Amino acid sequence: MTFNSNNIKNKIEKLREEIRYHNYRYYVLDDPSISDTEYDQLMKELMEWEKKYPQYLTSASPTQRVGIEPVPEFTTVQHITPMLSLANAFSSEELRAFDQRIKKLIPQQKLDYVIELKIDGLAVALVYENGILVRGATRGDGITGEEITSNIKTIKTIPLKLFGDDLPSHLEIYGEVYMKKSDFKKLNEDRIKKEEYLFANPRNAAAGSVRQLDPQITAQRHLDTFIYQATFPEGPKFKNHIEVLNYLKKIGFKVNPHIQLGQDIEEAISYCQEWIEKREDLDYEIDGMVIKVNSLRLREELGSTTRSPRWAIAYKFPAQQVTTKIRDIIVQVGRTGALTPVAMLDPVKISGSVVQRATLHNEDEIRRKDIRIGDTVLVQKAGEVIPEVVKVIKEKRTGKEKEFVMPSKCPVCGAKVSRLEGEVVSRCNSLTCLAQLKERIRHFASRNAMDIEGLGPAIIDQLVENGLIKNVSDLYFLKRDDLISLERMAEKSADNLMNAIEKSKNRSLANLIYGLGIRYVGVHTSEVITRYFPTLDQLRKINLEELIEINEIGPKIAESVILFFKEKENLDIMERLRSVDLNFGQKEEKKRKKKRVQIFTGKQFVLTGLLKDFTRTQVTEIIGELGGRVTGSVSKKTDYVVVGEDPGSKYDKAQKLGITIINEEEFKKIITSE
Ligand code: IVH
Repeated sequence: MTFNSNNIKNKIEKLREEIRYHNYRYYVLDDPSISDTEYDQLMKELMEWEKKYPQYLTSASPTQRVGIEPVPEFTTVQHITPMLSLANAFSSEELRAFDQRIKKLIPQQKLDYVIELKIDGLAVALVYENGILVRGATRGDGITGEEITSNIKTIKTIPLKLFGDDLPSHLEIYGEVYMKKSDFKKLNEDRIKKEEYLFANPRNAAAGSVRQLDPQITAQRHLDTFIYQATFPEGPKFKNHIEVLNYLKKIGFKVNPHIQLGQDIEEAISYCQEWIEKREDLDYEIDGMVIKVNSLRLREELGSTTRSPRWAIAYKFPAQQVTTKIRDIIVQVGRTGALTPVAMLDPVKISGSVVQRATLHNEDEIRRKDIRIGDTVLVQKAGEVIPEVVKVIKEKRTGKEKEFVMPSKCPVCGAKVSRLEGEVVSRCNSLTCLAQLKERIRHFASRNAMDIEGLGPAIIDQLVENGLIKNVSDLYFLKRDDLISLERMAEKSADNLMNAIEKSKNRSLANLIYGLGIRYVGVHTSEVITRYFPTLDQLRKINLEELIEINEIGPKIAESVILFFKEKENLDIMERLRSVDLNFGQKEEKKRKKKRVQIFTGKQFVLTGLLKDFTRTQVTEIIGELGGRVTGSVSKKTDYVVVGEDPGSKYDKAQKLGITIINEEEFKKIITSE
């Protein structure tokens, strides 16, 4: 019996080894030695064995890459050794200075460098115990990161189990998770079809995918890795970095192939320069190069500062610059109402792509750089960012150049443009501005706002472009037939959307306030506001002073809220929303009233110390509404003592008498609990 079961166990493990090897050849070496069908066959066989003998299933089996349940949230973990960052150099001069610094610290030592590509992705730390992947974490702040093991396991180039017999019992690996340019393109194309939001660049896409709570989604994103460092508390001893990288390759990791050994800093510099051009040919993005001291002994001697090692430096690629002429300056109205001046350029080629526009950011920036229409300018493109004007070539001026004036009315809707005190951006605050409308609707329908499922960007585009929606309130006047008339809208989806819109009428007032997209009013602020002004009617009547009095609301937020409720168009929209019976806080009010009588009935409270979020009068009122009573001094009859900062003698007395003491947070929890 024992012999038999061991046999089966061995057979399963052998099958796994075989699959691991083919995995490695396919994903890491990009050099498969069997066909896909043969590989699938092996996987199928393994799955069948594991199903039949679940007692032999292990988490490091190749079948266990996906299939793990989504997690509610990530937990934070402490890195075993802090994940340091790198100091940056932007020129050959700075690289020579780096070399000089090292030579001063360790004179008369033979020094060679390893030069690597700087992969533009997301740093991760992997922990292996006895060759098995036990933990994957993001860099976080370098000391603690987020635990993302289940997501890491879905990345095919990360081994779940390492090759070799004499593996160190403990191994910590650093590397970069990234998304290939080609996979990024496919992902975004797919997201357009699915009406989902697009990622700005491969790095954001990789970061977003790694931080998915559902590993099934991460698995679909085709992430990849390059490993560039390892720490071994014990186990094999190496002399230099190149040996470490070779060892990592041997035990199953994917190490970047373009690694170069340089005898001195000049060799390193010329290798860096080679890649300024060659980077365009790679199927992944790099944002520079990393130069590292090869000898591990010298690294040890050099040590690290608190932020970065002294033995390595990142060389950042220079931004490419060219000159061209500004034909015109137009004003774009962004999705949040920001007016951005944009330079229309004579087309020029920068880093392989033709550029015709450059952002001028804002009015002040134009004045600071003294940019005029007709100027010849130096334009640059750094990495993936939008091109910008570096400076004006004043010698080229003819005297015919024209100064730019920011319009006082929104170029799209004609509403008055405002620029808040201390801000550089001019804005259009009208809820009816078409330029902002699509984004406003998307925001209104988003999960933390009205949560209208099925109202994706493509539908919003059509609704706006066909004139069916002119502001968010029109959503509630849509008819089923309006929806069915849209392209690619099936009857069932139209019904679902109608239901979702209807359902959203019951969302809380905080959700609605957030959904209105008032500048500076995020999820948290809308909750704070509704705590003090629980109905929209109360909120509409308030003034600046009252708002600023709330601890968490600064003058900027307050001014923005007031401005929003001053705009006549916005008030009209509120009335339309009221007419379709949207929840303006009355639902919560009813619930509160019902609940309030219950929870503090007959209870006596004493207050001591300073509270952060409430005045004494407010707390007294709240307690009163909930059926309780506030008294001045602590006695045996006191039920609760609410303590703030710097409490007085009442606190000591309460402790002596054994009376329940609650702090502000606890108090808040009690009064807001369902
Ligand atoms: S070595 C002790 N090598 O760049 C620091 N980093 O700006 C070890 N990176 O956080 C870093 N490619 O995420 C190193 N070949 C490479 C790299 C690389 C990309 C990233 C890494 C690091 C950041 C520093």
